[in-house]
Amino acid sequence: MTDAVPVFPSDLPASVRSALAKHASKPGALLPILHDVQDALGYIPADAVPLIAKGLNLSRAEVHGVIKYYHHFRSEPAGRIVVQVCRAESCQACGADALMGHAEKALDCKSHQTRADGAYTLEPVYCLGMCALSPAIMVGDQLHARMTPEKFDSVVASLRAPT
Ligand code: FES
Repeated sequence: MTDAVPVFPSDLPASVRSALAKHASKPGALLPILHDVQDALGYIPADAVPLIAKGLNLSRAEVHGVIKYYHHFRSEPAGRIVVQVCRAESCQACGADALMGHAEKALDCKSHQTRADGAYTLEPVYCLGMCALSPAIMVGDQLHARMTPEKFDSVVASLRAPT
């Protein structure tokens, strides 16, 4: 017996419709749907929440709660360059707090925020899988290990924030 493939109205935004069509009939569909929408749009727009909730027969509050619970999901568009500083245990033990403070100053941007000119978004993350090389950061899709404030400045200097 095969699972029926759900059909969604064509007026749903394409990224949400596509994610629902791909995952809605599977158990635990919400997280992969949220990942797909964020991968497609860069964030999960507020307008997507009721569509996803309806598609999965969940309440808006349930969908919203999952988006808020996981730091990975964004409700607003990110800056042109996303800088993530690991704040999990190993990195914490190796100076992640001071590194985040340094990053805030160097980027002129608070943690969890996007700089006013849209150049950078600075985010905490909770393990980048580089614990043996702590502290770690990710800039765009590039991992950087054994980070120091000096190395951070060098990485930032090598970036050309597109305007
Ligand atoms: S704790 Fe930072 S990479 Fe794992």
